[in-house]
Amino acid sequence: MSSPVIARTRVDLAAARALMPGQVAVVMTMGALHRGHVQLIDVARERGDSVLVTIFVNPLQFGAGEDLDRYPRTFGADVAICADHGVDVVFAPAVADMYPPGEAVKQRHAGGLGERLEGAHRPGHFDGVLTVVALLLELTQPDLAIFGEKDAQQLALIRRMVAEDGIPTEIVGVPTVREDDGLALSSRNRYLSDAEREVALAISRALRAGEAAAGYGADAALAAARKVLDDAPGIDLDYVELVDEQTWERPSEKTREGRILVAGRVGKTRLIDNVSVVLGTQH
Ligand code: PAJ
Repeated sequence: MSSPVIARTRVDLAAARALMPGQVAVVMTMGALHRGHVQLIDVARERGDSVLVTIFVNPLQFGAGEDLDRYPRTFGADVAICADHGVDVVFAPAVADMYPPGEAVKQRHAGGLGERLEGAHRPGHFDGVLTVVALLLELTQPDLAIFGEKDAQQLALIRRMVAEDGIPTEIVGVPTVREDDGLALSSRNRYLSDAEREVALAISRALRAGEAAAGYGADAALAAARKVLDDAPGIDLDYVELVDEQTWERPSEKTREGRILVAGRVGKTRLIDNVSVVLGTQH
């Protein structure tokens, strides 16, 4: 397949964007592309007439002491993957082009939900995510934007922002792509040693245990997931929670669609994962 046009600046992007025909689908990434990202690109290809991928490691969403400097950057391989999957345009700006020094960035605030779960452990993270996503939506003007359920809280916050601001882009969520053994694909998996990778499997195992117990209700589902993690050595757990899929609050008696979310560190690597569950009423 032919190589995508590479736009390195906002000016290049505007020129390339003007030439993209039909419904434009965008996939936003921080690069180090893997099969999870590829799934999003394939959905974009199916749903859109033209596909634009953004690759930008957004400093605003990394906290002090997080992995901004060592975040994997594999641009050549990323472009090859984009070429193989029919991407038309890759937008890969420098930090100074996205956030020109001396120019105020329009900051977004994630609100209450942005301070819970992931937000409680990564203060300011979701403000940074929403700020870059809003800017990328403004620059790329997509009809569709595709995001992964792997980052379910991020997806929920993006859906809220787009609805509240009346942004005319359809947000499409895509189920998490996993390795055969259950590990959710992530750019950060490449930090894991073989031994750490084995330990990390307890996370997806816990989610499966929670899913299997969901017929017995929210408490049983959460307890089953928590038990697997309590019994797993080597995971420094940040949280395991079950929320109502619609409200992102604690489930009520009436909640049928829930989501179990886990975050923790294996060695120095922080991993997150989640699964949607249908809650039964058996006790
Ligand atoms: P990044 O972690 O590169 O992820 C880009 C997109 O790929 C996100 O929508 C994410 O949910 C999705 N994704 C990652 N792993 C996945 C998997 N295993 N299965 C399915 N989808 C997966 O998320 C970000 O970048 C950034 O926060 C971004 C939205 C680009 C803003 O900077």
